[in-house]
Amino acid sequence: MIIDQLDTPLTGTSLKPTPAGVAYTDPEIFIREQAEIFEKMWNAVLRADSLASPGQWRTVTVGREEIIVVRTRKAGIKAYLNVCRHRGMRVCTTAEGRSKTLQCGYHAWTYALEGELVAAPNLTSMPDVDRGEHGLKTVHVREWLGYIWLCVSPAAGSSAPPSFEETVMTEVSTRFGEVQSLENYGIEKLRVGQTRRYEVAANWKLIIENFMECYHCATIHPELTEVIPEFAQGWASQAQDEIHGASFGAQVEGFTVDGSAGVAALPAIAEAQDRKYYAITVRPQVFINTVPDHVIFHRMYPVSAAKTIVECDWLFLPEVVEKQLDVSRSVELFHRVNLQDFEACEQTQPSMSSKAYDDGGALVPSEHHIAEFHQWWAQQIGPFARGR
Ligand code: FES
Ligand SMILES: [Fe+2]
Repeated sequence: MIIDQLDTPLTGTSLKPTPAGVAYTDPEIFIREQAEIFEKMWNAVLRADSLASPGQWRTVTVGREEIIVVRTRKAGIKAYLNVCRHRGMRVCTTAEGRSKTLQCGYHAWTYALEGELVAAPNLTSMPDVDRGEHGLKTVHVREWLGYIWLCVSPAAGSSAPPSFEETVMTEVSTRFGEVQSLENYGIEKLRVGQTRRYEVAANWKLIIENFMECYHCATIHPELTEVIPEFAQGWASQAQDEIHGASFGAQVEGFTVDGSAGVAALPAIAEAQDRKYYAITVRPQVFINTVPDHVIFHRMYPVSAAKTIVECDWLFLPEVVEKQLDVSRSVELFHRVNLQDFEACEQTQPSMSSKAYDDGGALVPSEHHIAEFHQWWAQQIGPFARGR
């Protein structure tokens, strides 16, 4: 039912239907999304430079899996399911650490940073145990734009990881025309000036939908529409067919909370990218905003049907971070935008279980591109949703 209605136009052509409210509340649909979307696709999780030296590791969550991401001595960055192959205890029980090996705290099975089982009490008296067979389970890793991207799909078979180029990079080139246009910002060389973590009491799809449209900008984003006046018309840069950078207002000097000048522009951006703001969604959990002097990079981690963690990095040139230049007005602008957006999503979430939303809501023309996201979502979770 929640999918069938997506094919049925509402009256006239101005409004398109959204999924029914149940799509945003049902725990079984949420599990299906975890399995079919987050656990099959590439997820950006960490800045690569947050694991600076060998032995440094962090734990992250993708879908329903907890994962250890570690910088090894010989093999670059590797990632493993954080599950001991003996009897399943979490091998790493804190958010981050640094060690020569990864040792389980229950019976001391010990794994090399490269994943293989290297020691366990009494292992020598069990010569038939093949250490190679009992290493930590590997998770696929890619590094791009300075981020570590993970895919927890098995290595082979029908659920092998999708091609990074055909998924992540294609999403970017669809939005930016060519990957080079994003690479102009040199995101991999930038440094994190600030990170904020938001716990949002809303379904992850509400957050994506919100991010994709600007129909709400005039109502809830006074600072943003001061800096980018065209957003007051309600058209998000992602709503347009052509590659569209949204222009700064004539009097605006920089992408800051009061429109004052930011820091030095990123050196390789094209002339056409000056005084422009771009926004892209890389499904399923990344949003990237670029402006001439910094990049704002969001990662989303769904926790339950009604709760999502969002982490947001503000990335600047290394010298800006090293010299501790004042970027507070740059950070404050999008931090406010985030708080305004998440508040709106949180005020929407409770209504998803109201009778008033049994048949869903409506998308106006400046939101029609969100229907494509809904179609994509429906395809991923498949016929499962039809009977619900
Ligand atoms: S569960 Fe890890 S060593 Fe036993
Ligand atoms: Fe917004």
